[in-house]
Amino acid sequence: MSTQTTGLAIETAGLVKTFGETRAVDGVDLAVPAGTVYGVLGPNGAGKTTTVKMLATLLRPDGGEAHVFGHDVVREADAVRGRVSLTGQYASVDEDLTGTENLVLLARLLGHRKPAARERAAQLLEAFGLTDAAGKQVKNYSGGMRRRIDIAASILNTPDLLFLDEPTTGLDPRSRNQVWDIVRAVVAQGTTVLLTTQYLDEADQLASRIAVIDQGRVIAEGTKGELKASVGAGTVHLRLRDPAQRPEAARILRLALDAEVQSEPDPVALTARVGGAGNGQGAAEQAGRALAELARGGITVDNFSLGQPSLDEVFLALTGHDTHEAEGGQDEVAA
Ligand SMILES: Nc1ncnc2c1ncn2[C@@H]1O[C@H](COP(=O)(O)OP(=O)(O)OP(=O)(O)O)[C@@H](O)[C@H]1O
Ligand SMILES: [Mg+2]
Repeated sequence: MSTQTTGLAIETAGLVKTFGETRAVDGVDLAVPAGTVYGVLGPNGAGKTTTVKMLATLLRPDGGEAHVFGHDVVREADAVRGRVSLTGQYASVDEDLTGTENLVLLARLLGHRKPAARERAAQLLEAFGLTDAAGKQVKNYSGGMRRRIDIAASILNTPDLLFLDEPTTGLDPRSRNQVWDIVRAVVAQGTTVLLTTQYLDEADQLASRIAVIDQGRVIAEGTKGELKASVGAGTVHLRLRDPAQRPEAARILRLALDAEVQSEPDPVALTARVGGAGNGQGAAEQAGRALAELARGGITVDNFSLGQPSLDEVFLALTGHDTHEAEGGQDEVAA
């Protein structure tokens, strides 16, 4: 199973890791194409970090197999280590050192001579917008700066595969955008990125393919479009001219779409899911027919849109719970 023949950076089959009674990873199959960002999306406790640690050779699997660029993560761990790098959920740079000191130290540990280490450090600090903070101790960095220096530290030697474990958890929107730009730049250099995230919009922004995991299992896998299509073709949003017409409009829509129609808090707004499965074209036709029915019924529609379902809706449809409920609800579901 070589990379040349499969084009895969990662391939796992039935990967398992247990901690006592907990099956943290419960038979995971993944196929991650080289040169892409692959998203592993799941709530707290889903098994993301455990999966990443096994792939990065930091944890030994209890079952199944995993290959990274064709190398077995257990039998050929050294070969795997030579090609991967990990930016963990909990970072590893030294708080008391400055940005420059951290990067130079790590570059020296990787075998760079001092001038080369300094040059690489300066280059990365510049690329990550940290030049002004280069001389400050990392403990004085903001959360976003901290995350950027962590990623910088993990790509001192450009890895073939970079694991980013929840790189933006807890960051403000601006800092998240900066990290996203960095991820895009890293991939543009040819590195494959396996990104774990709890944020659906992050996977949506960055990843070409996504595996949704919940309770140690892959519950859905595919391109973003495929995942969205698997839960329904789209959602119709309507705004009426007259709030008094809403009950009648809802009735007509329900019949025309054969779907649940929701009344939004806004008294003129209605939404409905179209097409239980299948393609967007069917959804557009269905929505068009519904609009015609509304017009025939004397309903004035001010605004209409047909959108793809969000990944949040995808997650809800797949798991029966939303991404934020998972922590508390897990035991009940597992029982
Ligand atoms: N070292 C450990 N010992 C015991 N249980 C563990 C250990 N590491 C993880 N677990 C358990 O395994 C499950 C999966 O944990 P993991 O950290 O992989 O989840 P995660 O998807 O990374 O979650 P988060 O989004 O919170 O980081 C959880 O139930 C967790 O409590
Ligand atoms: Mg984790």
